[in-house]
Amino acid sequence: MRTPVIILNFKAYRESSGERGLALAKVCEEVAQETGKSIVIAPEQIDLSLMVREVDIPVLAQHVDPIGEGSFTGHISPSAVKESGAIGTLINHSERQLPPEMIEITVQKCREAGLETVVCANDIEMAKVSASFGPDYVAVEPPELIGGDISVTSASPEVVSETVEKVKGVNPNVTVLCGAGVKNGEDVRKAIELGSEGVLLASGVVEAADQKSALLDLAGGL
Ligand code: G3P
Repeated sequence: MRTPVIILNFKAYRESSGERGLALAKVCEEVAQETGKSIVIAPEQIDLSLMVREVDIPVLAQHVDPIGEGSFTGHISPSAVKESGAIGTLINHSERQLPPEMIEITVQKCREAGLETVVCANDIEMAKVSASFGPDYVAVEPPELIGGDISVTSASPEVVSETVEKVKGVNPNVTVLCGAGVKNGEDVRKAIELGSEGVLLASGVVEAADQKSALLDLAGGL
């Protein structure tokens, strides 16, 4: 992924799945083309191949299971995500948490499959632990702020800046992102000012009356 970056997590909103999700992906592609900014989408798993086929911006899975190929049922394998054309995956999002040992195995399986890894962490301590597993990105997202109207960059700016410091102290190769409550270009600008190299967001765009205007404003902060 090119940084600084906005990762739009589609989650499982009505407005971001199926045909509505495809329309949103095309909005993201338009904004990326018009602004030249790095915009990446994380659609629902079932829509991964569709999005890769239909839009020319990077696509991430929202989760993968740490399995190989073979006799597994009902899982999402790193190799299948890679085959879909996605560039990587979120891991341990606060809405899809894993025990630390599973995070480590998942990062390893993704590396073997050639997937970029964005490990999400609820707090600074978890961000440090996650960084020790060698992911490409660690994204700190205080769960109590997710979906709300107050950005992590306003409510807890020290969480962002301290996560950057501590993560870089554990593994300087890990890029730090942040998210939760990010709603406008000023929130994004502050995230960059605090040392992160991008943001994860969802409701500020997915649930916006005018999704394109909302994303253009956010992209203006990169
Ligand atoms: O993965 C990003 C997401 O959890 C943030 O959600 O709605 O606060 O932008 P939201």
